[in-house]
Amino acid sequence: MADERLVKSRKRVADHGEVFTPCWLVDDMLDLVKSETERIDSRFLEPACGSGNFLVPILERKLTAVKARHGRSDFETRHYALFALMCVYGIELLADNAAECRDNLAGTFTRSLGVRAGEELDRAARAVLAVNIVRGDALAMTTSTGDPIVFPEWGYLGKGRYQRRDFRFDNLTQRASASEGLFAHFEEHEIFTPVRTFPVMTVKELAA
Ligand SMILES: C[S@@+](CC[C@H](N)C(=O)[O-])C[C@H]1O[C@@H](n2cnc3c(N)ncnc32)[C@H](O)[C@@H]1O
Repeated sequence: MADERLVKSRKRVADHGEVFTPCWLVDDMLDLVKSETERIDSRFLEPACGSGNFLVPILERKLTAVKARHGRSDFETRHYALFALMCVYGIELLADNAAECRDNLAGTFTRSLGVRAGEELDRAARAVLAVNIVRGDALAMTTSTGDPIVFPEWGYLGKGRYQRRDFRFDNLTQRASASEGLFAHFEEHEIFTPVRTFPVMTVKELAA
């Protein structure tokens, strides 16, 4: 795109390495994992997500998949679309970028479904984004207040019901190494325990 803004200021580039990726390059990179981007329940985490240059097109691809698979039912479309959003995660150091990222994802979600601002589904989506897009330091794995970053693991149980379990990010990053070596003989649930488990929720409860 000719008017795409890839740099906000020279100072931000120097201080935070803030140079955004052009959409043609994002698309080429996402095509390398095309089938994953088109799977509703594949989870993506962008650890330096900026304003969402990767996360927005990932969500768009997932929403296209939702419509192709569940488009005949408005109920299923809306619920699977929310689940698709639940599978998109980001970490961003700067407050304005994190807020912009949440807004861009929320706008993509509501436009795609024809949902108005303030409607129940919009409020549920905002509640999801408030916890899925974290303002923090991906290297230190801490939030802007110095606490460990925690991410929700969402599941869609069908019939409009969602489950949520929260895990510490530093714990999750050890998953790959735990599949080999010392802990290989343990089941995942024996090593990784959620820091919090929520009661099953509906869109209405999420929105509240
Ligand atoms: C090069 S930009 C890329 C933004 C986006 N991923 C893209 O491709 O358009 C890097 C982003 O990472 C953020 N950032 C820098 N250090 C970070 C850190 N330790 N943890 C999280 N975000 C960080 C910056 O604020 C900036 O928004």
